[in-house]
Amino acid sequence: MKLSKIIAGSLIAGIMLSNFAVADDDKSSYLNHKTSVFYVGGKYVGEKGKELMQGQMYVEKWTPKNISQKYPLVLIHGAAQTSTNWLTTPDGRKGWAQYFVEQGYEIYMVDQPARGRSAWHPSIDGKLRNFSATTISKMFTASEQFKNQWPQAYKHSQWPGSGRQGDPVFDQFYASQVESLKSHVESSTVVRDAGAALLDKIGEAILVTHSQSGPFGWLVADARPNLVKGIVTIEPSGPPIKNKKGKASMPWGATVIPMKYSPSISNPNELKVEEEKTVDGPNLLKCWKQVEPAKKLVNLQNIPILFITSESSYHAEYDHCTSKWLSQAGAKNDFVRLENIGMKGNGHMIMLEKNNLEIASWIKNWLTKNIK
Ligand SMILES: *[C@@H]1O[C@H](CO)[C@@H](O)[C@H](O)[C@H]1NC(C)=O
Ligand SMILES: *[C@@H]1O[C@H](CO)[C@@H](O)[C@H](O)[C@H]1NC(C)=O
Repeated sequence: MKLSKIIAGSLIAGIMLSNFAVADDDKSSYLNHKTSVFYVGGKYVGEKGKELMQGQMYVEKWTPKNISQKYPLVLIHGAAQTSTNWLTTPDGRKGWAQYFVEQGYEIYMVDQPARGRSAWHPSIDGKLRNFSATTISKMFTASEQFKNQWPQAYKHSQWPGSGRQGDPVFDQFYASQVESLKSHVESSTVVRDAGAALLDKIGEAILVTHSQSGPFGWLVADARPNLVKGIVTIEPSGPPIKNKKGKASMPWGATVIPMKYSPSISNPNELKVEEEKTVDGPNLLKCWKQVEPAKKLVNLQNIPILFITSESSYHAEYDHCTSKWLSQAGAKNDFVRLENIGMKGNGHMIMLEKNNLEIASWIKNWLTKNIK
């Protein structure tokens, strides 16, 4: 290529990229770990001789020089996200991947099947949905700036930058957003199956789930109870049974697709449920629970679970309902509101917010205490 063309090209690239200029303030531990990539799950489908592979999941493994922790972490992102959530934050700070690898954890980061670096086939995978930039601002990055949202929305203060289009940090974050499978049944099924295949390959592990992948974590544990040594869930999709608008949300209580209950059921209508008569506190929603005697989620009984909810997320008004559903079904969980442990003003994307490493450190201490 002629020099003039290269210069012109790089000028254009320079103009475009200036929108995305971010700090790179992390000078620590370059290449202090080994990385490798592989895929799990997936089947050849289609006519003989013209097969495609469907359902496979991208996995990126980081191995610290000194693996000082007994179990690896499997990090599973939520809707519209990919495993970039765990890497550098949109304003250029250290992410959870680097933090946990420095703490001696081997980590596995996935892109859900049909998402990111895991193939989506227009002809055989289901339809996709998108989250517009405005939706992301309202729900995740700038909830405090919009009227008539949920009661805790105004408390949000931990997103770096304005959280709106045109802000370089927001633009950087929004650039990482991708489309997700529209069907919750399809998403649940493909992540459960690929998650089980991952554990079959790597053995015992601790799951870290966020938002949409919260229910997928329960499903992977249900499929491989002996391989899941703990679950850290951050604002898992919910609430049980019906949402704020009275629409069906999680028909199986904590999930959209079947889980093993005891006594066993084959249809979610066999769960006898009722709405609680009172709320647990101001600005909280009433919860749906089982009528006693409650059926038990037998495969989750012996798994230590940390359940984290932030002060100002849209989850703040209903996550206690999911926690209570799990507890009633025998899945004991440590339900922690961040504001009660001194971390105020967080929204839904806690792994990217200003105090992301403070939260990661708290999680690490919980893991050390609770998982032997
Ligand atoms: C590896 O980590 C363990 C546990 O933290 C520590 O006792 C040991 O000294 C470390 N080894 C090396 C070579 O850094
Ligand atoms: C995003 O999704 C909406 C439906 O939720 C759809 O109407 C719109 O066309 C989609 N946007 C793009 C660019 O595909």
